[in-house]
Amino acid sequence: MIERHRRESIVRERYAVGAKSADTRLCCPVDYESAYLKVIPQEVIERDYGCGDPTRCLREGETILDLGSGTGKICFIAAQIVGPKGKVIGVDMTDEMLEVARRNAPIVAERIGYENVEFRKGRIQDLALDLEELDRQLKRSPITNATSFVAADALAEELRVKHPLVASDSIDVVVSNCVLNLVEPKSKRQLFEEIFRVLKKGGRAVIADIVSDEEVPEEMQSDPELWTGCISGAFTEEGFLGAFERGGFYGIQILKRDAQPWRTVRGIEFRSITIEAFKGKQGACFERNQAVIYRGPFKEVLDDDNHRMERGKRYAVCDKTYNLYKKAPYRDFFEFFDPLVDAPLAEAKPFDCSRTPLRHPKESKGQDYNLTTEANSECCDGGSCR
Ligand SMILES: C[S@@+](CC[C@H](N)C(=O)[O-])C[C@H]1O[C@@H](n2cnc3c(N)ncnc32)[C@H](O)[C@@H]1O
Repeated sequence: MIERHRRESIVRERYAVGAKSADTRLCCPVDYESAYLKVIPQEVIERDYGCGDPTRCLREGETILDLGSGTGKICFIAAQIVGPKGKVIGVDMTDEMLEVARRNAPIVAERIGYENVEFRKGRIQDLALDLEELDRQLKRSPITNATSFVAADALAEELRVKHPLVASDSIDVVVSNCVLNLVEPKSKRQLFEEIFRVLKKGGRAVIADIVSDEEVPEEMQSDPELWTGCISGAFTEEGFLGAFERGGFYGIQILKRDAQPWRTVRGIEFRSITIEAFKGKQGACFERNQAVIYRGPFKEVLDDDNHRMERGKRYAVCDKTYNLYKKAPYRDFFEFFDPLVDAPLAEAKPFDCSRTPLRHPKESKGQDYNLTTEANSECCDGGSCR
């Protein structure tokens, strides 16, 4: 078994070499949108070590964080999509990768006419710690003995709190392309906590990575070539989605899954997958007499807060769930019912979200509702086929 810290340094060593010259063994070919590649210098494009394209889900004006940004290709594509009002931050731990990305950033900025990308040095499982700032301070007070080691540890903690590399609740979309598998197993849980921490409420993660169809056996995990080549550290497909679920995300879905494996090693298939997951289901639940109907096509659904709903039935939900369902990725699956008389949030009572009770239409309309109308000439437009 490769030791924990050795694993990280062999990743750094291999990608330091990969930053200087292209290594085709680290690359799973991806069709990026050619229009965005035109402004990106060739050395960045040829040192592409991605396996998917998370930029396809970005929107104008958003703030993006790219984990393991390498030579910067995903950041430079994202810069064009989010435009001058948006912002892109790339984080990588390998100096040689940061050097190429930072050297090319002004070239891209000049070509697109604005500057909205920056690259920061950090470990993606510890996004609060600014490694360059820590380096600067340690040069002034180097570690020479146990006392200075303890002081350095305290300094790192202070930097995390006072000058975080990436602040909490500051990012609209965390993207990553073929990097999460490189984080050593004991830090993977912390990695998901960090992705969650930096996202704004309502933000999302769009992550492309290599996953396996079976558990990777212990002996393959000891192989540095397979480890650094995005193989041995891969999550299983189920484990990858489960990690987002355990991390508190909701609305988790596979956006793209390659039918063909990128590599097969000892009968285990490794392929690229892109997933999307949202932050924002946490918080208090209040009763505002809202209701929803799940439209189908499945007979029933279970959401990430354990609300189970049968197709076609009208359910009571709390204000928080109601508003989550009104947004992506859920909105197309539900019909929404506001109460006839608004129940202001400030006066709303707590809602017990551990249950998903049915809601009678009279609860939305009011028990005294007794209206009779003539036929409405504006209804029944025939709809459209989706
Ligand atoms: C497979 S490459 C992908 C690079 C880039 N995303 C792309 O699409 O070309 C992995 C990158 O992640 C960086 N990396 C690996 N583990 C990391 C970690 N724990 N923290 C920060 N960067 C890491 C490496 O230095 C390398 O640049």
